[in-house]
Amino acid sequence: MTTIEQQDAAELRARMVAGIDELGLGYLRLARVGEAMLTVERHRFVPHVSLADAYADRAVTTKPGQPGQQPQSCASQPSIVAMMLDQLDPKPGGRILEIGAGTGYNAALLAELVKPAGHVVTIDVTPEVTAGARAALDATGYDRVHVVTGDGAEGVPESAPYDGIIVTVGPWDLPPAWTAQLVEGGRLVVPLKFRGNSRGIVFVKDGQILRATSSRLCGFIPMTGPKQDGERRGQLDTEGEITLTWDLDQQIDTAELAGVLDRPAGVIWTGTVMRYASPFDGLWLRLAADEPRACRLTVGNGATAVIEAPVIPARTPAVVGTGSLAYLVQREIAADVDGTRRFELGAAAYGSTDPAERLRTHIQAWDADRDAHPTIYAYPADTPTEDLPCGGLIDKPSNRLVISYS
Ligand SMILES: C[S@@+](CC[C@H](N)C(=O)[O-])C[C@H]1O[C@@H](n2cnc3c(N)ncnc32)[C@H](O)[C@@H]1O
Repeated sequence: MTTIEQQDAAELRARMVAGIDELGLGYLRLARVGEAMLTVERHRFVPHVSLADAYADRAVTTKPGQPGQQPQSCASQPSIVAMMLDQLDPKPGGRILEIGAGTGYNAALLAELVKPAGHVVTIDVTPEVTAGARAALDATGYDRVHVVTGDGAEGVPESAPYDGIIVTVGPWDLPPAWTAQLVEGGRLVVPLKFRGNSRGIVFVKDGQILRATSSRLCGFIPMTGPKQDGERRGQLDTEGEITLTWDLDQQIDTAELAGVLDRPAGVIWTGTVMRYASPFDGLWLRLAADEPRACRLTVGNGATAVIEAPVIPARTPAVVGTGSLAYLVQREIAADVDGTRRFELGAAAYGSTDPAERLRTHIQAWDADRDAHPTIYAYPADTPTEDLPCGGLIDKPSNRLVISYS
């Protein structure tokens, strides 16, 4: 690379970091994370794309998936990388395990953050991916990072315990090895899937229990493995354009919903108002905590005109009733005094209004305190129900998640 290209890369890196800061989401709260991102040369971990693409705030695919499927490997979107490093807050001297080595870029950032005495271990399930990560880490001076090939669900016990574990792939189940390999009080940052949604949760280890009081919306490519295939999908139309996604432990059967979309029962408007682009992801959490049949509705481009338009066609919160369905919609209302567009939330009802009425109650509970964050607990799977705290229960093969607002 010529000196001019190196200067270009440094300038693009600075712009990338400034862009993440300008999002105003607090991802660079820790100056150390921004400094690491200014130092590590991301383009050397994704050499097959242009410098501009290497420093755009986008994921870079390195191993495409089957047609219509998500990639099998990629370098994650830089702003999401920053968000998760902020959540993990790795300290100098810390011992960190990363699940999902990918290109090695995040492992290099971790190595910057824990240097000089810390240690980073990263594991990926695909040998060609770990070979690429190893080569890129060696070439960029991060040869102290330990790269392992294997199923991340097992962790890397020979280097445990870890002060922090960061999962850069999307699991559905939380493998017990992760809790076992953390130090007491250690952090597990994980984009966990539940109720059709995915959140980057910051768990802290407390004995056998993981406890989280903060999480943020974020999605990752799915983790492979025997216990990770717990999401279920079913279609509501013959073309497969309108689908529901739910969890294995939920009593949802799309056969019982046959023809439900042909029986519209109106929209229940809630009086809950959202300013343009303001977040409503807290509503997903409310639903996960309080609604046993909350799930995700996905509507393809071809079908958005067939039914009441969902609030975000690719992922809208929905509630299933008995032969009935409700999902979140919005309508534009008068703009705010400052000219900002505003929308009222509603629950579109199909089959009957029962689930829509429940959805309205959840929308209003969320609206009453939009910033409330529940405590999310992960207990071992064999914990008796009477020993669990109060809250919404989500059972997975390895854990019992409890989402509690009390
Ligand atoms: C989004 S990429 C990780 C990005 C990476 N941290 C980086 O900085 O480039 C997700 C990675 O997780 C890996 N993966 C998927 N299932 C896995 C599993 N069961 N164990 C370990 N890695 C897995 C994929 O092969 C993929 O490389």
